[in-house]
Amino acid sequence: MKNSWTKTKFYMLMSVLAIFLAGCGRENLSALQPAGEVGRQQFFLIILSISIMLLVVGTVAIAFTIAVVKSRRSKVGEDFVPKQVAGNHTLEVIWTTIPIILLIILAIPTVWVTFTLADVEDMVTEDGVANKDSVIVNVTAYQYWWEFEYVHENVVTSQDLVVPTDEKVFFNLKGADVKHSFWVPAAGGKLDTNVDGINSFYLVFDDDKAENADRLFYGKCAELCGPSHALMDFKVVALPRAEFDQWLADMKVYEEEAKVASADDAKEGQEIFNNSCIGCHAVTPTNPGAAGPNLTNFGDRELIAGILEHNKENLVSWIKDPEKIKPDNKMTGAYQLNDEEIDKVAAYLMELKLDKNSGDVEKMKKEIEAEEKEDNDEGSDK
Ligand code: CUA
Repeated sequence: MKNSWTKTKFYMLMSVLAIFLAGCGRENLSALQPAGEVGRQQFFLIILSISIMLLVVGTVAIAFTIAVVKSRRSKVGEDFVPKQVAGNHTLEVIWTTIPIILLIILAIPTVWVTFTLADVEDMVTEDGVANKDSVIVNVTAYQYWWEFEYVHENVVTSQDLVVPTDEKVFFNLKGADVKHSFWVPAAGGKLDTNVDGINSFYLVFDDDKAENADRLFYGKCAELCGPSHALMDFKVVALPRAEFDQWLADMKVYEEEAKVASADDAKEGQEIFNNSCIGCHAVTPTNPGAAGPNLTNFGDRELIAGILEHNKENLVSWIKDPEKIKPDNKMTGAYQLNDEEIDKVAAYLMELKLDKNSGDVEKMKKEIEAEEKEDNDEGSDK
């Protein structure tokens, strides 16, 4: 009877462990399944430090067990006094040298990787201007959402970060209110977004890894930043370079004017939006630093408020009572809309989708080139 209860306990423990560990296996969220060069280097450091740790723990555990088993009273008798080793020169040299060697083995790759990952030289050209061949994203973290500004293209979006695969994507990170931390577990990080300075680094997303993850990675805030810290998620859509360029060009179609709603309720919703919500939310992609997330391509987003499934019902619940979904967020109490108005605004927002392939990629590239030339000329005038 006792035996079968022990077995049951063992199986129960194993099932709980299995459920926990199952969470470690998701391609889009796991640092243990690195999706690019940065993630792989960080994974290597994790494995190296754990191996050294296990070696030390294992050695100590074995030595301890041997000592306990060998020195049992039943074995050595009542009055046994073991050999005294206090002040033994050889032993002291050994247990000082071994930790030093282990620390050196750990320190060299750690320092090397840390400096490699902070190398953002390719971000600027020799003339000191932003290198147009590199994708550079300015990330601003707000309580509790993320803004992404594509430096060359002058495009701003929020919550869904779109990146090209198989190349370095550079990030300049800053916090708008308090300190947050930018982390895409599968690709790398985390790096603090400070209020009083910019941290820069890069990430790489392998195309095959992105495909395995359905082209969608999860991003997290990794610094306790307030009541909704755990809900401060974002998504990373990783596309092949050509599709990424097309996405940017499609965004730029709405550079000057927001999309016009088509359905009747959405049209009314747009009017309500323009008399209230627009005070904080831009619907054209060139507007960084507004009080709320830019909503240009809201209808294309993966999730609502970073955490809810993307459908109109959830959007209505979010607008109706954001405090219930994300405590302490800044939208609470901004505008009092009635149920009918909320429904119409939601209909409008769900229509805010990019017209796929409407943007002209070549034209966009030429504009960027022209702008860069202008910057260079200005630089040489000085
Ligand atoms: Cu932002 Cu935690």
